[in-house]
Parts: sequence; structure tokens; C-alpha cells
Amino acid sequence: MANCKMTATAQAAFLTESSNKDPHRYQVGFGNRFASEAVPNVLPKGQNVPQKVKYGLYSEQLNGAPVFSSRDAIRHVWMYRMRPSVAHGQVSPASDLNTEIESCFSTANKQVEFIASQLAWDPFPIVESSDHQSSSASIDFLQGIKTVGGQGDPTLRDGLAIHVYSANTSMERTALSNNDGEFLILPQHGRLNIQTELGWLMVRPGEVVVIPAGIRFRVLLPDGPVRGYIQEVFGTHYELPEFGAVGSNGLALPRDFESPVASFDIDEAPWTINYKIAGTLHTCTQNHSPFDVVAWHGNLVPYKYAMEKFVNMANASKDQADPTIYCVLTAPSKVPGVSLSDFLIFTKKWITAEDTFRPPYYHRNMSTEVMGLIYGKYGGSSHVLDGGGLSYEASYMPHGETYQTWKDATERKLENVVICEDTMAFMFHISVPVLLTKWATQGEGSKSLHQSDAHQWDDLQAHFLDHLEDVNMDLKAAGLPALTEKS
Ligand SMILES: [Fe+2]
Repeated sequence: MANCKMTATAQAAFLTESSNKDPHRYQVGFGNRFASEAVPNVLPKGQNVPQKVKYGLYSEQLNGAPVFSSRDAIRHVWMYRMRPSVAHGQVSPASDLNTEIESCFSTANKQVEFIASQLAWDPFPIVESSDHQSSSASIDFLQGIKTVGGQGDPTLRDGLAIHVYSANTSMERTALSNNDGEFLILPQHGRLNIQTELGWLMVRPGEVVVIPAGIRFRVLLPDGPVRGYIQEVFGTHYELPEFGAVGSNGLALPRDFESPVASFDIDEAPWTINYKIAGTLHTCTQNHSPFDVVAWHGNLVPYKYAMEKFVNMANASKDQADPTIYCVLTAPSKVPGVSLSDFLIFTKKWITAEDTFRPPYYHRNMSTEVMGLIYGKYGGSSHVLDGGGLSYEASYMPHGETYQTWKDATERKLENVVICEDTMAFMFHISVPVLLTKWATQGEGSKSLHQSDAHQWDDLQAHFLDHLEDVNMDLKAAGLPALTEKS
């Protein structure tokens, strides 16, 4: 069977249908305990580790939580595979594979820094095709990751990283295991055809895919060069947000999340497995495909979600809600009830609130805000985002609309309007300060920097001062002393 490649994929009822844009089928639901087998009756019945697994397969568990965890926190998957993943040869450092991945976000690390100013980047360039007519180097998904910033450290299982990626080459007979954290990937240009140990996912711009830490995967590029965004969380998992008074319906519906079905290859050729551990890369080779899982069951699974399906909720009478109503997924921090990062999206919606200042109100907050745009146009507070660009607002630093926008929003006749038509913008609403990498602020990434004009708010007028006579009359009527001028 040497160098022979065969493939088998599960077929079952209750799966989504394939389409021209996505040839794969999926199991649906969020947080489910799924079971899938590419060969019927391979999954052991009534136990996980029988003395003999059918066809001599090996049983292997991947555990994504400390073993002694509450039932809610347990994330694991049992895989029944041709060879256990330990058959992977000698592991050695491979830092040259990508020197732009950062994972240590501390003031002691001189490669990252805290920036107080607002920053925005024009779209990061898409790497050119590496076909025979081009002189561009081959860059696969792993090589194409560039870290923009983050907080914490994966060795502490605390914090997160924001990356962007651009690649022009499929990962052929190469897989990545990201041991540091859970990847939330947002393609912005070009589809990603992702093979994982648990099966395939095709992900297009407008969809988000989550790959848990420790799952081996590779990324193929069916449309040529790609570009997109990644938020990686350390030591936690993305969840659906709590609903509170909303009840049980709305936002991202659990049944719209799609997870792969078992699919395995018989491929006895040399494969490279790369591991990302503490932000550094390590590599090994083995003479067989890592995608040899014939059947699996568990709840530590990759999934994707088509963000156009998001059910927007909004104020239907007056006033503004907090942007948490746009939350697709949230990653809890170690503080009970507090998120590490909320993933929000801004999509087509009706705005109908009466007697309301409708643009984002002026604010400062504990959170860091990192925004990007998948498609369409999005006018942020201090800059207009283009697809593939990024913006950053530091923790507790003020932001808001220009005087002209404020004036227009306070004087215009309020009508029912649609906003974000044909637009998919997103925000990582991060509850901690974010340190930015040198790559983003001084290196290659800084070539896309688009400095916002700090003086664009200089013409904000203090209208209160035009009304001092009336103010004094009100004060007098209330028995209070009038305003006095300081000498
Ligand atoms: Fe904000």
C-alpha cells in the first residue's frame, strides 16, 4: 500500500447537503457530543477503550480540558485511527518556518509594546500567486501567519493573540497542531479547505471557523492566494454568549453551527507535522498521513458558522443597547462571569429607534477593540475600514464621532433605515489591554499603517457655553448659586 492514497468519508442521514461552493457535509449543532464513523460500526459500543477495536484500529483520546473539570468544562474527543499520533518521529525546533508569530505578551518582552493611540491599518497585502509565471515564494497558511498583538501567554493558559494571514500555497502533506490555543479564523479573501483529524471544512469569506487546540489540521487553497484574520485564545474555548432576558432565541442559533464528519486517507508517504508550542514551531516527519481517523466521538470538535445567518436584535423603541447584542461567540476568562474576548459582528440591520443619537455614543471602556472588515464598507469612529484592514482602540482610551457626524446625528430627521447593507464587519472586544508586535507597528505590517488624525475632534464645540444665561436662571430657580467666572 506504500504511497497509495485512498479516501473514505462518512455518509449518514441528518447531514447538511453539499454544494458547488462547499463539497463537504456537516453535522449541525453547537457544543454537541457528536459521533461519526467513515466505516459503519467501527465506534466501540458502551465503552471507549475495548480490548480490541474493530479492524485493529487504535483508540486515542484528545483532551482539551484538565481531566478533573466540571462536566460543563469537559472537552474531549475519542478517535479510532490507523496509527496513534505518537507515531510521529523525532520532534525538533523549526523556528525558521515562521519568525513573525508572537505569543509572549508582557511588558518584559521588547518585541511587543503598548500603544495608547488609536491605530488603523489599510488592507494588508495579499501575497502573490506562486505559480510558474511568478517569482513569489511559496507561502502556506502556517508560514503566512503574522501576529499583530495580544495579551498573556499560552504557557500560562491565559490571554490571546490576534494574527492576520496571507498565503499562496496549500499545505501539501504537512499538518499543524496548534498546542497554544483555539484558533478562530475569518477568511477575508479566498476559501480555505481545511482538513482536520475529524474531517473536512470548506470555509469562505463570511464564514468563521474554530479549530480547538491540539487538533491537527492543514489548509488547502482552492481559490489561490488568501488573506484573513485569526483570534487565538489561550486556555479557554469559545462559547455561545449567555442570553439573560433575551430567553432562548436569537443571535447565532446553535443549529447553524456545522462540524465535520469522519473522513480518513490511506496515505503511506512522508508527512511533516508541525507543532506550535509557546509561540515557537517544532517539526517532525512520519511515513503516514495524520488524517487516518476512521471514526470518532466527542465534543472537542472544529466547527464553522455562516455569519449571514446571524439574527440581529436591537432597540425597537428608543436608545442604544450595548454591542454585546452583536456577539457571535465569547471566550470566557478565568474570572467567573467575565469574558476574555467577545467576537461581535456588524451585519445588515434595520435601525428604527426614535429620539436617539444613533451613531456609536462617545465612550471609554476597559476593553480593547480590534476591528476588521470581511466585505463591504464600514465607517469606524476615526477611520473608514476597507476589507482586509484592521483598527485598534486601546483599553480605557476615548473614541467617538467627529463634530460633523455628531451635528448631523443630533439634527437629522430620524427615519427607519437599513445599515451595513452587504457588509460584514467584526470586532474582537477584548477585556484586557493588548500589546502590539513590532511587526505591526514598525516592521512589514507597519507599511499598511494609516495614522488617524488626532485633531479631527478639535472642532468639537462646547455648546453648553452658549447657554450660560439659561443655566444660571435654572440654578437660581432651584435656589442654587449662579456660575461665577474664575479670575
Ligand atoms: Fe468603542
